[in-house]
Amino acid sequence: MSTIRLGDEAPNFTAKSTEGDINFHEWLGDSWGILFSHPADYTPVCTTELGTVAKYKAEFDKRNVKVVALSVDGLESHHAWINDINDTQATTVNFPIIADEDRKVSELYDMIHPNANDKLTVRSVFVIGSDKKIKLIIVYPASTGRNFDELLRVIDSLQLTAYHKVATPANWKHGEDVVISPSISTEDAKGIFTKGVNEIRPYLRMTPQPNLN
Ligand code: BEZ
Repeated sequence: MSTIRLGDEAPNFTAKSTEGDINFHEWLGDSWGILFSHPADYTPVCTTELGTVAKYKAEFDKRNVKVVALSVDGLESHHAWINDINDTQATTVNFPIIADEDRKVSELYDMIHPNANDKLTVRSVFVIGSDKKIKLIIVYPASTGRNFDELLRVIDSLQLTAYHKVATPANWKHGEDVVISPSISTEDAKGIFTKGVNEIRPYLRMTPQPNLN
């Protein structure tokens, strides 16, 4: 077991997947990445999650994000389950699923929480930046399917704030006004954010999202 924290380099690994052997860092290349775990194949919530992710491929591609799933079942089981996912969710699984039978990756990424279940992974999500650093960690219990719209929303925030001196407020969505970083004075902000600076309080300054035309 290892503890992974925000800002750490995503640990590299090699693993078998439904799209061939993966060296994680090489597979990521210059892309952003999502590594997400599932308790087990042929379980109902997981089936809906993987179907949903397959349908969101264009959204992930638009954001330069590669997606890889993982469970502790084997390749044969994964391939047969993919047929079921495609059938029941009316889609085509278009990303690799890691077969982590020896739990090497699950342990490396602390995806097994023994007080929840000592054999199966919980629903972990790791978002990895193009610099291979961990940008986000979310952990859900087996009984709660993840919200992939929220994941896209967070990736929009992560990618925006990686390149602009802004942060995103509560419930922010792509296109809405953002918060100017506290490290910038209001005077400097007026030069940087030419679409306008709304100083609600000296510490709370808003500006239109800077990377939109
Ligand atoms: C599911 O994916 O449906 C699931 C897995 C483990 C426990 C409960 C639900």
